[in-house]
Amino acid sequence: MKRYRIQPNKQVETGSEQTCSKLDERCILVCQHRSCQAAGSAQVLAAFEKADTNGFTAKGTGCQGQCSSGPTVRIVPEETWYCRVQPNDVPTIVEQHLKGGKRVEAKLHPRIHMRFSY
Ligand code: FES
Repeated sequence: MKRYRIQPNKQVETGSEQTCSKLDERCILVCQHRSCQAAGSAQVLAAFEKADTNGFTAKGTGCQGQCSSGPTVRIVPEETWYCRVQPNDVPTIVEQHLKGGKRVEAKLHPRIHMRFSY
């Protein structure tokens, strides 16, 4: 597994982007590209790596296209996208989502998980 380190003023390696290798593999994909890294994504990835994630594998990735709302965390295969995730959000995501099966509404990415009320 490739490790990423916080290196201020240095670009993170993104050419070896990691993804889940199997369609049914359960992964936590934490963006490690520039904008997300500047917002603390390395610490978010480290927090997921330390946690008991109930069989989900935490992986760093390249840009996931949601740079203005990072750190971006994507749970697959069910495709749940979280935005502005901080290390202190990780225990809630682990307990409520990864172990309890219920998404953390407050951290859902609003452009991807749109909510409508009439
Ligand atoms: S830099 Fe993380 S989504 Fe683009």
